[in-house]
Order: sequence, then C-alpha cells, then structure tokens
Amino acid sequence: MVNAAGQQVGGHGAPTVGFTAMADGTAEDYELLARYEEAELARVPDRILGWLRDMDDHTGYQITRLGHSLQAATRAYRAGEDEEVVVCALVHDIGDVLAPANHSQAAAAVVRPYVSERNHWVIQHHGVFQGLYWFQHIGADPNARDQWADHPWYQACADFCANYDQNSFDPDYPTESLDFFEPMVRRVFDPSRVKDPDISEPA
Ligand SMILES: [Fe+2]
Ligand SMILES: [Fe+2]
Repeated sequence: MVNAAGQQVGGHGAPTVGFTAMADGTAEDYELLARYEEAELARVPDRILGWLRDMDDHTGYQITRLGHSLQAATRAYRAGEDEEVVVCALVHDIGDVLAPANHSQAAAAVVRPYVSERNHWVIQHHGVFQGLYWFQHIGADPNARDQWADHPWYQACADFCANYDQNSFDPDYPTESLDFFEPMVRRVFDPSRVKDPDISEPA
C-alpha cells in the first residue's frame, strides 16, 4: 500500500519496506529497517525491567525470582562493585524468562552487547559454577566448573556465585527495590553502549 506522500506503508499506516523477500530489498529499505532497529534498541531497558517484573513469581524458593535478583544486585552494590557488575547481578537469571533449560547462556546473550567480556563470561558460566553448592544432590559433579580452572575469569565467576548468587535466597535480607536499580539498568542498557551488533559472528 502507498500513502498520499508516495511512501510504502502497512495496514497500520507505518512506513514499510517494499519487498516481500529479503533478497529483493534495496539500500533504502534497509535504511528504513535500521531506523526501526534503533527504536527497538531504545526499548531494551524497558523490556529488561518488564522481564524482571515477570519474575515476581514463586518457583519453590522462600523468595521470588525477582526477589533473588534484587538481593544479588543489592549484595553486589553494597560490596562496592561497579555499576555494570551490579546490573549483571540483577539480570544474571533473566534467561529464565525465555530459556529455563539454559538460562545462563540466554542471560549472557542478552547482556553481551553491553558488558565486558569478563562480565559476559561470568553470567554465561554461573549456572555450572553454582553447581558447587547443589549438584551433589542430583547426582551431578559439583566440581564440573573445574574444567575452567585455568581460565582467567574462573575466580571472578566463583566469587560471583559465592558472594552474590548462592546466598541470595534470604527472605530476611534487606533488599533494595527494582526502582532503586532502574536508573542503573537504563544506563547499562543504553543503546549508545551497544558494541557487538548482529553483523559480527557470535562468540
Ligand atoms: Fe542462575
Ligand atoms: Fe541466581
């Protein structure tokens, strides 16, 4: 459909590309899509906050998954970690929303364009590192993480789990609210910080 200004628009009135198969697109089409992509990136902080609110449910622990996330972030904040680490603590389990069976990898993929390689690695591996505290109860190897014993970020991930993750299920811990962390989420997930667009190969 073409509007009065001669622009291609969809049924919703918003501009669209002219093609129906990507192979037929023009540079102009892809410039238009890039503008939509910019708007998508600007919505990421709100999406992150929305996913965290979705985790305000009970899954068997004494606190909700949102409560656990807030508690981990609060502990990181009070330990004097920098803002990126605090936000990583807040979102380290956010993969649960889309990928409960591999939540560590999913969360790591979400944060990867916005954080250091170290912080990405810590989130990506925290699920296996957490095994130290409970894998023995399910017949798995609690020391499975030692396959990365020589990795430069082994200790960072071990410390993250020991100090912020495994201990953050305490209903009596004075935890900060999501409102407290919201400005930090908006800063860390600001579109200006995206440094690894999809056009590069995944790690
Ligand atoms: Fe986790
Ligand atoms: Fe966790």
